[in-house]
Amino acid sequence: MKIKVDRDLCQGHGRCVIVAPELFAFADGEDQAHVFTENVPAESEALAERAARACPERAVIITK
Ligand code: F3S
Repeated sequence: MKIKVDRDLCQGHGRCVIVAPELFAFADGEDQAHVFTENVPAESEALAERAARACPERAVIITK
């Protein structure tokens, strides 16, 4: 599984960071989230899916 934040869609709501802080973060001064790594470890896949569902802008993109 791979994840990314679509920068055209992200409005900085931060729910992805709250749900899955091991996968998403805001850099200092940034108003959009980024992923630490595109490749999600198998044990974090359910968390990545929860983060995607939590984003009101549907900006967390999952590919398998
Ligand atoms: Fe952006 Fe959605 Fe996270 S708007 S900060 S990707 S919850």
